[in-house]
Amino acid sequence: MRSTNGLGAAAADGQNQASAADSLDANTPGADQLFLHAQGVGSRGAATQGAGSHGASSSASAPQATSPAHAPQGAAPSASAPRGATCPPSAPEGDSPQEFYGDYYQRLLEAQRQLDTLVDDYIAARSDSDDLGPVVYHSSRIKSPESLQGKLRRLDAKPTFETALSLQIHDIVGARVICAFIDDVYDAADYICGRPEVRVQQRKDYIANPKPNGYRSLHLIVRLTQGPAADLLPLEIQLRTIAIDFWATLEHKIKYKKTIANEELMRAELKRCADEITSVDLSMQAIRNAIRSADQE
Ligand code: GTP
Ligand code: MG
Repeated sequence: MRSTNGLGAAAADGQNQASAADSLDANTPGADQLFLHAQGVGSRGAATQGAGSHGASSSASAPQATSPAHAPQGAAPSASAPRGATCPPSAPEGDSPQEFYGDYYQRLLEAQRQLDTLVDDYIAARSDSDDLGPVVYHSSRIKSPESLQGKLRRLDAKPTFETALSLQIHDIVGARVICAFIDDVYDAADYICGRPEVRVQQRKDYIANPKPNGYRSLHLIVRLTQGPAADLLPLEIQLRTIAIDFWATLEHKIKYKKTIANEELMRAELKRCADEITSVDLSMQAIRNAIRSADQE
């Protein structure tokens, strides 16, 4: 986990373990190859969005989904499946990532590095403000072989990386960006979407359109346009506030518990918590906007 602002210094300790367990894939209770970036107090930043642009009236003004070009899971093997590297024909269970991903592993690592760099660049671009930095921490990972094999099996597909490539599974390489405020989430997403080294394939705005269980995040499915992983696979970037990340970590744990007493009540309580957290997020945003306005006077 790379902690990048004052909040992160305090939050990172408490969140490290939880975030590692709550890997980018909710279906992966184990540790994917999650790179946690911790740097302590660092850059400071300011979101460029004006008051309320995505805050108090987020559902009305937040960006909506863009291109639905996202290859459907279960689609026929893509004609443009990348060439130039070989994957092992069928990797046995328990393989290391290197064994499972074969010659592609280095390219996946490079894709992961590029995602990290994108976020670092964003943090640097917002480092000139005396306000709280927009990114509390961020992490990235390559999906573990077990997790990918599980996902492929659920899709009734052969559990090999070759199949994952032809299905263009979108979360084999992923990053998570945890922001202080709601406006920062949108500001970070806008920055990433505007970078020439990424092409946005899909934007899923679960902040403007929360899931029924209360989940709120902004998901970007992107492709790299440069480097050895260009156009290899779609990549997933999840952006959310630190408050809702706390919720998502717990919700993820509960979701995969087979036996939980009063499950319905738990779900209702979690939904209530998500709504309350959002209310706090919006209030914090309004307070920050007010402080900023006062500073500018
Ligand atoms: P996958 O194919 O499973 O990745 O999901 P999807 O294509 O339906 O995409 P979606 O955006 O719904 O979810 C992608 C990822 O977002 C999941 O793997 C989780 O990491 C996260 N996520 C989505 N919904 C929830 C949720 O309700 N709770 C939590 N904790 N995480 C979620
Ligand atoms: Mg996923």
